[in-house]
Amino acid sequence: MDADIDRLRDEILASLAAAGDLAALEAVRISALGRKGRVTELTKSLGALPPEQRREVGQRVNVLKREIEAALATRAAELEASALERRLAAERIDITLPARERPQGRIHPVSQVAEEIAAIFADMGFAVAEGPDVEDDFHNFTALNFPPEHPARLMHDTFFLEATQDGQPLLLRTHTSPVQIRHMMAGPPPYRVIAPGRTYRCDSDMTHTPMFHQVEGLMIGRDVHMGHLKGCLIDFVHAFFERPDIKVRFRPSFFPFTEPSAEVDIGCRRGRDELVVGEGADWLEILGCGMVHPNVIRAVGLDPEDWQGFAFGMGIDRVAMLKYGIPDLRTFFEADLRWLRHYGFLPLDVPTTYAGLSR
Ligand code: DAH
Repeated sequence: MDADIDRLRDEILASLAAAGDLAALEAVRISALGRKGRVTELTKSLGALPPEQRREVGQRVNVLKREIEAALATRAAELEASALERRLAAERIDITLPARERPQGRIHPVSQVAEEIAAIFADMGFAVAEGPDVEDDFHNFTALNFPPEHPARLMHDTFFLEATQDGQPLLLRTHTSPVQIRHMMAGPPPYRVIAPGRTYRCDSDMTHTPMFHQVEGLMIGRDVHMGHLKGCLIDFVHAFFERPDIKVRFRPSFFPFTEPSAEVDIGCRRGRDELVVGEGADWLEILGCGMVHPNVIRAVGLDPEDWQGFAFGMGIDRVAMLKYGIPDLRTFFEADLRWLRHYGFLPLDVPTTYAGLSR
């Protein structure tokens, strides 16, 4: 009898260990402890034993029952755990994002600086105006008070085109000042605009390229005076170079289209191979400006007794070189990707005066 119980125990425990899932385990439980299970049958057969044996064997069968129950519970827990394990593995969701490529494109320093300048003047109420690159003599010179045969026309190293208009050759604008004329002739005063764009002169060396960029400024009203001119431009210099301590000087100058005229210098220090803006005792010219000449106001059909104001013109490339320490102007237009990766700006670095122009 004892040997039978031991064998039964080994068989049941073996098939229990072999059960690969909960259903198989349940089958083992039924075949052992179910109503017709082998252990149950064994219990039933106890009645046939002589009383002295019945007690002892009965105890052993009870121990066997408890042992099997415990083994069933352990195995069930194991199977449940591994079933969960498998399910988690099967239903796994990849919630990681694919790596984003770093943007490769760069904004050219000229575009970036033009945006910076526009952002600063936008804060002062200036809108952006535009004009054509191909101009005529009237807008580029005559209306700007360049007298015929005036040497200033030659000073501009103008590119004349073969095409003519009203017998006069067309030309590539030598400055953005003709946009002043076009803007004033296009609508009634007051005016408050800047006009960034391409300009052309027949000239080429480290600081001159045949095509370069300027930004023009124009503010005309009934009582716009030189104080406004100075305030705007001093504020501009401080905002643009992001240093409120930069010294600014207005030096008398001459332009046909302004009277009085001035050039604006900023304080700088010239080292052996470097130029530091904003400190030192040297001066560096950055723009021309003045009160718009009465002849210009007249040329656009307004009465200079009623309307007056100021204008200025500045080289965008030039201030970009100063601000970002770019030594050679010609490299701006070589389309060298390594240069652009070094000096360019990320597309999302949109300059604003409140978030910091260049950060
Ligand atoms: N047009 C001038 C140039 O190209 C720059 C300039 C000077 C523009 C004075 C202005 C001004 O509007 O008032 O050199």
